[in-house]
Amino acid sequence: MDERLSKLRGELDSIDAEMLRLFARRMETAKVIGAVKREAGIPVEDAEREAELIAARLEEAPEEARAGGERLLRLLIEESKAVQRAGLDLYLIGMPDCGKTRLGKKLAARLGRPLVDTDKLIMERTGMSIDEIFSKLGEESFRDMETALLRSIASRGGLIVATGGGMPLRAENVRLMRGSGTVVFLDRALERLLGQSTVNRPLIAGSTREESDEKLTRLYRERREAYQRAAHFSVDPDSPDAPDKVGILFRIP
Ligand code: S3P
Repeated sequence: MDERLSKLRGELDSIDAEMLRLFARRMETAKVIGAVKREAGIPVEDAEREAELIAARLEEAPEEARAGGERLLRLLIEESKAVQRAGLDLYLIGMPDCGKTRLGKKLAARLGRPLVDTDKLIMERTGMSIDEIFSKLGEESFRDMETALLRSIASRGGLIVATGGGMPLRAENVRLMRGSGTVVFLDRALERLLGQSTVNRPLIAGSTREESDEKLTRLYRERREAYQRAAHFSVDPDSPDAPDKVGILFRIP
């Protein structure tokens, strides 16, 4: 082989090795920053800071490194956010029967993390069904239980959380979820949500299927915007690549 070429290749090899060492250092630092943010309840993502940081680095970079440098910096930032998200909770929000538990189970297996279901935990802790809680104690008590549970979940970290459909309706809950994790809205189309079981879903229980569907439709129209606002990302849970789309946020294949 041409001697000059093999020498240049050797040089590239050592540059790559050095870059990977620096990359590892950057990721380690990003992870620690993630822990500090978590303690302070600061969200992983800050678009304004990202833009400032990229502009500042590019300004000090040599001219020939600018175009490619910007792409590289964006990639590094994505990797850092992924490592920070990995230490946080993943909250799945959306309408009743939009697939929060189903997708949650798949992601739990893939990410090797425990899945918790807020409705189930509330039922276990109270020894009552959701229907019973609503009829005996009222909706407000149930919502208070949800907020109290979320507080304890948010201080733990590393969980996948399938939330009850009403969780993002309280500003305090949204703040707790966004401050301690990544919030993903499972945006299932209304037609696919209709005709579901109303067991433990007192808000959509009706004397006929039509009545339940009507209540559900109303709820959907009232809530969809709140779900979108509460979430960092939305996915269609019926799309076969939904687990991949959520997994990639954590760089999980
Ligand atoms: C509710 C949804 C239910 C349950 C309760 C209230 C809601 O959870 O928390 O009936 O307000 O949408 P699912 O979304 O898991 O059905």
